[in-house]
Amino acid sequence: MNLTRTKSVERSIADTEESEHQLRKELGPVQLVVFGVGVILGTGIFVLTGEAAGEKAGPAIALSFVFSGIACALAALCYAEFASTVPVAGSAYTFSYASLGEMVAWIIGWDLILELALGASTVAVGWSGYFADLMDGAGLRIPGWAYGEGHNLVAAAIVLMLTAVLCMGIKISSQVNFVFVAIKVAIVLLVIVAGMFFIKWSNYSPFVPPSGSPAASGGKETASLLQDLGVSPGAFGVSGIFTGAALVFFAYIGFDIVATAAEETKKPQRDMPIGIFGSLGICTVLYVAVSLVVTGMVKYTDIKVDAPLAEAFRSVGHPAFATVISVGALVGLTTVILVLMLGQSRVFFAMSRDRLLPESFARVSPRFGTPLRTTILTGVAVALISTFVPLTALAELVNIGTLFAFVLVAIGVLVLRRTRPDLKRAFRCPAVPIVPVLAALTAFYLMLNLPTATWIRFFLWMALGLVVYFAHGRRSSRLATDPDYARDSRKGDAVSSSAGGTT
Ligand code: ALA
Repeated sequence: MNLTRTKSVERSIADTEESEHQLRKELGPVQLVVFGVGVILGTGIFVLTGEAAGEKAGPAIALSFVFSGIACALAALCYAEFASTVPVAGSAYTFSYASLGEMVAWIIGWDLILELALGASTVAVGWSGYFADLMDGAGLRIPGWAYGEGHNLVAAAIVLMLTAVLCMGIKISSQVNFVFVAIKVAIVLLVIVAGMFFIKWSNYSPFVPPSGSPAASGGKETASLLQDLGVSPGAFGVSGIFTGAALVFFAYIGFDIVATAAEETKKPQRDMPIGIFGSLGICTVLYVAVSLVVTGMVKYTDIKVDAPLAEAFRSVGHPAFATVISVGALVGLTTVILVLMLGQSRVFFAMSRDRLLPESFARVSPRFGTPLRTTILTGVAVALISTFVPLTALAELVNIGTLFAFVLVAIGVLVLRRTRPDLKRAFRCPAVPIVPVLAALTAFYLMLNLPTATWIRFFLWMALGLVVYFAHGRRSSRLATDPDYARDSRKGDAVSSSAGGTT
């Protein structure tokens, strides 16, 4: 039983042609960019900006966004190379199967559950908070039994509604996404433009508050792993920029999910890089602008950590704006949940097709062209998690899970360049090996800036994943059970050794 057995790129692509596993190709470059913005722009900017500015970085939160954006851009170069070379559902999971072998692929598939299913659940809980607030404002109080930590039926309701949309097809999901994204981008632009008139330059000073400065009230103190190890002072000062960056990294999660839709894209070789870089670029500019505006409107020590954007407008005497922003956040978070669940269902789909999960899940509905079973499985799982699991302490697990996937994808690019130099790469990551190495190092550095408790939970989750792999996936895998398929999968390797050489 070979743990490093790989599935060749050719085999992965051939799988997408099997009739019962065929997804419908409906997406073009614009839809991909909109998908990206749909999932990227959300909790991070509407909620976490307050916590990161008030407790970690002050006005230098804008620099945290820049640093996190650079880390993501480096990773995006690696994702774009992979997604244009292996345009198959499953993103990092599929890339790892082609480069680092089955066990690493399983680990990544398991790890992506943290990013996608746990991420969707966390955002659904945030959504329910905004919804309850707005209903309250309109005089409609949601009964206590239907809404609260550990019994959040409001979160479950939105998740199940979006699951129905996803089941109906990638095209309709993409249309719903389009409308919602237009609304949320308009509201973010409104915040930037209207907010600029209320900037007080004195609020920017000091731009980088010295370490040991007091934090905004109402927040919680959590030390990063580096801080617990005594290597970094954590909040404020220069190190605060990096702890802030690790926190707001959540705001960038999603550009990588564009890659999970590769198999449903008409011309993935051309459009995947456009989707990934387009959405990441747009969001980076918006984030830096919003964070500069908000910390210019309100002194960072007075920032409200729960609803920073809305509160900034309330504090300058414009409560009507605050309501508009809350509606924008609600709409914005809806598409984040939608696309995170889309990504999760496609990763489960790819894993089931490879029989690392039960194969019956990999069937595609002839009527809708979507993997109905994995979509419903994902929806029910996310609904249950967001209803019953207290998620407040778990949000940073989403960050560590995603960053870990970045590290492996970057390493995967290096490995595949060496093992399969012959492959046609429509997009080539520049300056290899420097860019992938930097991508892996910056992602790992951000991981180190996350809390120690997050690291412990992450290890426990991954250990559980390995137990499941050895108990089930290793034996049931198509590469283990279907000798013809396994032989076919090795053909790519034969091509590579005859091609020889490295790049
Ligand atoms: N980037 C997404 C958000 O900020 C996950 O909500």
